Amino acid sequence: MSNSSQQISATISFVKTRMQAFDASHDWYHVERVWKNAKQICQKENVDSEIVELAAILHDVIDRKYFKGSPAEGQQLIRNHLQEIELSDHRIQIILDIINNMSFSKNGKVTSPEQRVVQDADRLDAIGAIGIARCIYYAAKMDNPIHLPGILGEYEDISAYRKNGSSTAISHFYDKLLKIKNTMLTTTGQKIAEERHRRLITYLNDFLSEWEGTS
Ligand code: ADP
Ligand code: NI
Repeated sequence: MSNSSQQISATISFVKTRMQAFDASHDWYHVERVWKNAKQICQKENVDSEIVELAAILHDVIDRKYFKGSPAEGQQLIRNHLQEIELSDHRIQIILDIINNMSFSKNGKVTSPEQRVVQDADRLDAIGAIGIARCIYYAAKMDNPIHLPGILGEYEDISAYRKNGSSTAISHFYDKLLKIKNTMLTTTGQKIAEERHRRLITYLNDFLSEWEGTS
């Protein structure tokens, strides 16, 4: 299978099957948005767009919150698929390195220019209007409150956040969402993040003033 669009179609089928049971914060539509963001960011970056697209499409299949196998089994699952579509070992390794290092909570290293694009594309989906919806959805799913007075951010550093997560939807804005803008690695990603960051701030201000009964 040497044709790139065939490799991408086969990867979409693989991911759709695997992610069927995932909830709406990490479903196929999240992946599709990340893929679209990645293609947009790609236009201005000097990167291998096929690696970017495949990594974007595969990035959440072995997320530790959903994938029940061991990390080694996860790696093998992705490797098997990429071997099946006849990707070279070198390109397979680049994709695995991206998937293993791009998470915000993991705070991994940047292993390739392609990772910058995929990582930014994923983080964009955690902010702005979509990010707010995902955050509230996720909090509800965890049975967490929307907001508790006095809890506006619970962690100073990412490793502490990674261990326990945020206990309310609004706290998650401070623990993660408002920090995302400053972690962007591409010019296009940064530009989109600035607009989406403004949407977070507007929402938070409206939310907190309604909570106080001042508007
Ligand atoms: P990453 O894969 O970058 O570490 P996660 O998978 O933890 O990120 O988060 C994915 C989505 O779920 C994001 O949109 C994030 O805002 C949301 N989310 C994660 N943890 C919480 C939480 N405790 N409360 C509300 N939303 C959360
Ligand atoms: Ni993701």
